[in-house]
Amino acid sequence: MVMRASISFTLNGQAKTLPADATPTTTLLDWLRNDAHLCGTKEGCAEGDCGACTVVLEEPDGARAAVNACLLTLGQLDGRSVRTVEGLKDAHGHAHPVQETLAECNGTQCGFCTPGIIMTAWAHQVERGEVHEALAGNLCRCTGYRPILDAFSRIEPLAPTPVETPSPMAARFEAPSQTFYRPVTLAELVALRTAHPTAMLLAGGTDLGLRFSEHRDTPPEVICTLDVAELGVIEVLPEGMLIGAAVPYRKLLLLCETEPGFLGFAELLRRLGSRQIRTMGTLGGNLGTASPIGDALPPLLALGASVRLAGPDGTREMLAEDFLVDYRRNALLPGEIIRDIWLPRPAEGALFSCDKLSRRHDQDITAAGLSVLLAVTDGRITTARIAHGGLGPKCARAVAAETALEGAPFTQSSFDAAAQALMGEITPLGDLRATAEYRKLAAGNLLKRLWFRWSAQEAV
Ligand SMILES: Cc1cc2nc3c(=O)[nH]c(=O)nc-3n(C[C@H](O)[C@H](O)[C@H](O)COP(=O)(O)OP(=O)(O)OC[C@H]3O[C@@H](n4cnc5c(N)ncnc54)[C@H](O)[C@@H]3O)c2cc1C
Ligand code: FES
Ligand code: FES
Repeated sequence: MVMRASISFTLNGQAKTLPADATPTTTLLDWLRNDAHLCGTKEGCAEGDCGACTVVLEEPDGARAAVNACLLTLGQLDGRSVRTVEGLKDAHGHAHPVQETLAECNGTQCGFCTPGIIMTAWAHQVERGEVHEALAGNLCRCTGYRPILDAFSRIEPLAPTPVETPSPMAARFEAPSQTFYRPVTLAELVALRTAHPTAMLLAGGTDLGLRFSEHRDTPPEVICTLDVAELGVIEVLPEGMLIGAAVPYRKLLLLCETEPGFLGFAELLRRLGSRQIRTMGTLGGNLGTASPIGDALPPLLALGASVRLAGPDGTREMLAEDFLVDYRRNALLPGEIIRDIWLPRPAEGALFSCDKLSRRHDQDITAAGLSVLLAVTDGRITTARIAHGGLGPKCARAVAAETALEGAPFTQSSFDAAAQALMGEITPLGDLRATAEYRKLAAGNLLKRLWFRWSAQEAV
């Protein structure tokens, strides 16, 4: 592997090369504030929740993707182009129109959240979509959102302008206390994983990033998957979609919004974190955590998705439900990584819904999740696949509820019976977010509610 000595990236349009001893898991936020002395980017929570640290990645196709600088590491930034609030002024030092609009609309008071909101707005100029969705990752504690929303509604849309970026090159950054690998092929990744079984495997870092930003960990070895070509694959076929493990949610969401059969998944993905989190977070990372509250997991199980693993002995494939072994335990063997995920396309006319219940609509942790895929023929349910999240030690199929629905007539009483079966088979815990009793009842009600949602649809 070529050993590049230093991390390089483009900052506000200028090439930047860091000293060879820069620690690759330093967060961009720390580097901006402590080393580059660009203190416009603020630190609020240091865990991806508040958006005060929002900066924007400028993609080669001209897209602008908002991201949390508190979770993004310098090693991940290598080869990319990033813009901070300091990089918005024009050649004469005048403020950007987005900044002027926010000020004119009285969208700022103490100003602490303002640079983050400005950067979200600057990305939104090109990305468009729902304003509510764009702002879900930015908290303002004092101004109130009405003037901020006013400003967003006045911001001029812009067409993307492609940005020149170098092609990814394999790299190994050696800092005194850390080696950071950036392989670009699957073969390199598997060889590194085999040779360094205890190294941290880092994708988007939206889970692992807390180790750097909050816990100030400096793992001695890190292998980053973001540039591995095979893990970035997206293949759309009539039977389904193949999604590389390192494809960010941002791209997956765009696909699911337009590909027939996946709209239910898109609705859930829009509530997974915020735009900033979806810029970096990946499906492979969600599977890697095997968390019982991984939001993308119940949809995978309901769809019958399978996971392809790659390791020193080649590749093997298994159903996503078998990959999730137990509480935060997955089926990866030493030296193995997740290569890609196959999402079978629901049959035409199938009913597919992915619900997430949380205390807050945006940016919140799931109290109960339920994904359901049904096929109905001549008023009878022919196939039922139901999967839950947050209701036991792992995301899992709800087999009793499926059995209650399969072969049953498509009626309210069938859904009521299935809800009873579901409540009987789950073992939720109580915590700060919800009691065990609430979770049980809510899970049953999520299933009952589908009857009302679907029976109202003409297709059935
Ligand atoms: C503010 C905030 C909000 C969030 N909101 C949500 C939410 O609403 N719903 C939700 O489900 N999650 C949420 N998350 C968690 C996180 O975004 C997701 O779990 C995401 O899918 C993690 O992906 P990643 O690429 O960032 O993973 P990383 O943090 O890079 O890695 C996570 C784990 O997966 C492993 N891994 C990554 N790629 C591979 C691979 N190819 N093969 C094997 N193992 C691999 C890593 O080793 C690690 O153990 C949130 C996180 C934050 C900080
Ligand atoms: S500092 Fe709060 S999201 Fe980064
Ligand atoms: S202006 Fe004070 S937090 Fe938003």
